[in-house]
Amino acid sequence: MVINCKEIADEIIMKSKERIEKLKKLGVYPKLAVVMVGNDEASKIYVHNKTEACEKAGIETEEFIYNENISEKGLIGAIENLNSDPLVTGILVQMPLPKHIDETEICRAISPKKDVDVFNPQNFGSFMLGNKSLIPCTAYGIIKILEYKEISLSGKNCVIIGRSNIVGKPTALLFTNHDATVTLCHSKTKDLKSFCMNADIIVSAAGVPKLVTKDMVKPGAVIIDVGINRDENGKICGDVDFENAEPLCSYITPVPGGVGPVTVAALINNTTELAYSKII
Ligand code: GUN
Repeated sequence: MVINCKEIADEIIMKSKERIEKLKKLGVYPKLAVVMVGNDEASKIYVHNKTEACEKAGIETEEFIYNENISEKGLIGAIENLNSDPLVTGILVQMPLPKHIDETEICRAISPKKDVDVFNPQNFGSFMLGNKSLIPCTAYGIIKILEYKEISLSGKNCVIIGRSNIVGKPTALLFTNHDATVTLCHSKTKDLKSFCMNADIIVSAAGVPKLVTKDMVKPGAVIIDVGINRDENGKICGDVDFENAEPLCSYITPVPGGVGPVTVAALINNTTELAYSKII
């Protein structure tokens, strides 16, 4: 069955919207500063989707777009200005950044109090330790999708493909905390198929079209496709050979219209939570 992720995203956004209305009555106006460097087409689309959804939820946004030649120091300075701006309650730095900029240093520069993506090492560390902290957006979105469909993680064999700091690592940790047995596969994994064939749940975040084929899918498995790629005809597709794998799955998320909108909803949730911490 194809999971209707829009329904899930709408529910998360609706809850945040109610919380934002309460916040505004208390004099707190959430504002997300969105920082983008360069002209990457995909990043521009992601940023547009995020700012549009924020505005609908009642979160003000402001975009700060820098030339791709900006220095690391220059970008850190811009983030520090946002850190000290009392009207800005959240900061998002769209990744990836140009190669001459060290992303770790940029993440370190984002104030932990305004870090909607859980990119700052202090926040990521709290999350890793399982302390009370925000959850990185995509991992949060995936958990919400599974909860919505009442798919338990306890004791399940889960294969996550892709070990990025944004998706693979946090999702692996979150699944572990939900009592799943997790195998974190990546580009150097030997015989990916043998791992996938035993998986009750596959999360693919590799960015490779048709990486997960039907012969890799155990009948009844759940597939969460985080990939956003273009196929040979230029059409948006995920990492999974959807057409052939779908009949085998108990549940599968589509691309587009799957994890993407739920990740945007997670961003709205995190931005709302950080604005709330101004009153508690
Ligand atoms: N680039 C790809 N995914 C993300 C994300 O979740 N947040 C940010 N800031 N950049 C990204």
